[in-house]
Amino acid sequence: MLVGRSHKFKTAITRLPSISVVQGLRDGGGPDPSAENFMQQHGAYVAALKASGARVLELPALEEFPDSVFVEDSALCLKEAAIVLRPGAPSRFGEAALIRPALESQFSKVLDLPGDGFLDGGDVLLSDEDAFIGLSARTNQAGFDALATILATFGYSPVKIETLASILHFKTECGLLDSKTIFSTENLASIGCFENYQVILTPEGEEGAANIVRFNDNVLVSQGYPKSEALLKSHGYNVVVIDTSEPAKIDGGLSCMSLRF
Ligand code: GLY
Repeated sequence: MLVGRSHKFKTAITRLPSISVVQGLRDGGGPDPSAENFMQQHGAYVAALKASGARVLELPALEEFPDSVFVEDSALCLKEAAIVLRPGAPSRFGEAALIRPALESQFSKVLDLPGDGFLDGGDVLLSDEDAFIGLSARTNQAGFDALATILATFGYSPVKIETLASILHFKTECGLLDSKTIFSTENLASIGCFENYQVILTPEGEEGAANIVRFNDNVLVSQGYPKSEALLKSHGYNVVVIDTSEPAKIDGGLSCMSLRF
């Protein structure tokens, strides 16, 4: 086990939001985001990653893929290798091939998810030891099997979670705080999936805060969740608050907007 490999990083890959981001997928038909405001919030997000110690590789926008700003769904980056995934939404199928050149520029080993299963990176939470993979509307059993096999070769123990039907991605409702601590909604934690971890629950009414990014010493938390911010600070975490109101309109959060390694 490599201590800290879950959150000690040097690099992040992001992709600029396209103008077409206004057509991003969403559950429930809410309002379109503003492309201009999205761009501003994305800029603040990239700045926060840099302030956390990241060298950020910023990829150009892809107009033909409205959700391509959410780079986390098309690949998974480990310390030693990158894996090109197979996102489960038809409008996002093409994103995987387009992230590959960036991965090849950073990794000597780039693998493809074998088989024909689907898997979104938003359904994968890596601790130092475990690879939690949630089955969802985007990630199926074949995708789980394929990724679990690869991750086991890198020393991870794969853990399959039956994600609640109400959740888009597994990480919509949880995030890693440190090697042994998970921030989770009660809904998700009650499944019992984090029994070997310390779990800090999102305060009631702030379940939307669960999707966080731990990058080196900082924990990026979405704006608008004051109880979560105070709770995490009381546990000693260095909290950085980021406005994600535009990505949230298309079911996006903090973790979806970067690959971290
Ligand atoms: N809009 C984010 C996604 O559905 O993939």
